[in-house]
Amino acid sequence: MSNGDLTGRNVVVTGAAGGIGAAIAARFAAEDRVVSLWDLDPRVHATAAALAAPRDGADSDDIDCSPTASVHSQEVDVSDADSVRRAFDQLTAAHGPADVLVHAAGVMVGGSALELDAADWARCLSVNATGTMLVTQRAAADMAAAGRGSIVVVSSNAAAAPRVGMAAYGAAKAAATAFTRSLALQVAPLGVRVNLVSPGSTDTAMLRDMFGGTPLDDDAETALLDGDPAVYRLGIPLRRIAAPADIAAAVHFLASDGARHITMHDLRVDGGATLDM
Ligand SMILES: NC(=O)c1ccc[n+]([C@@H]2O[C@H](COP(=O)([O-])OP(=O)(O)OC[C@H]3O[C@@H](n4cnc5c(N)ncnc54)[C@H](O)[C@@H]3O)[C@@H](O)[C@H]2O)c1
Repeated sequence: MSNGDLTGRNVVVTGAAGGIGAAIAARFAAEDRVVSLWDLDPRVHATAAALAAPRDGADSDDIDCSPTASVHSQEVDVSDADSVRRAFDQLTAAHGPADVLVHAAGVMVGGSALELDAADWARCLSVNATGTMLVTQRAAADMAAAGRGSIVVVSSNAAAAPRVGMAAYGAAKAAATAFTRSLALQVAPLGVRVNLVSPGSTDTAMLRDMFGGTPLDDDAETALLDGDPAVYRLGIPLRRIAAPADIAAAVHFLASDGARHITMHDLRVDGGATLDM
């Protein structure tokens, strides 16, 4: 296989309409792979089309699609069992079962722990935790049947570090992380590796929405880099906010054969923001 990877060619990335998921898809599309981009947002089709189209490489984070890659897109709601089942069935019919699954779909639900209502809590758990269970469970079962495969779940450093205003999100990501690690343990003897990448602040729509929806201005950047003692938030020791490509590089490594002896690992990619607690 020309990508030099024994793991396999058929890659699925959820949450791939933009942000971290799109950067991960781009990373795999630069190799000889069949890359399927899944997202609830119909913009996933435009993302896939842009990825497959030749470009001039004006942005330093852009990665060119390999001429031997093939890029596909599908609208999938990861929190809906029927939608997930249909997506895997269609994938299998068209390209065979996934060899690599990267689960990056997620939502931020912020708000005070004292005022959180049950509906917001349920929505947060439904996408971030139940979605992780539904997608990774099916992928792991298919991979176990094939005797090989690699799964990477994009969780969050908020799963481990308490954050004011992120109680539901942190709880949902902690549930996703715990499920993922138990799944990893169960399928390890069956030839399937399952790992986590837990990002910190990464410059995507999710982070920008927390600061008003525009590109991060200097004040927002300073607040993130310096932290905020008033809410016990540490800054970022490496003094930069991650680009989606930084997270994609870590995911790509864990998914690849270079990580063939790594499973159940949770790789924190946050510039040291949580002191790796
Ligand atoms: N950006 C950050 O600072 C940061 C930090 C830590 C963890 N993360 C995690 O990284 C992952 C990617 O986030 P991002 O920063 O690229 O944000 P993003 O909002 O750009 O991307 C998330 C994607 O998930 C999709 N999605 C949401 N609900 C879905 C559903 N039910 N079914 C299918 N797709 C759905 C969205 O449409 C979106 O395209 C998320 O899991 C997020 O929690 C992000």
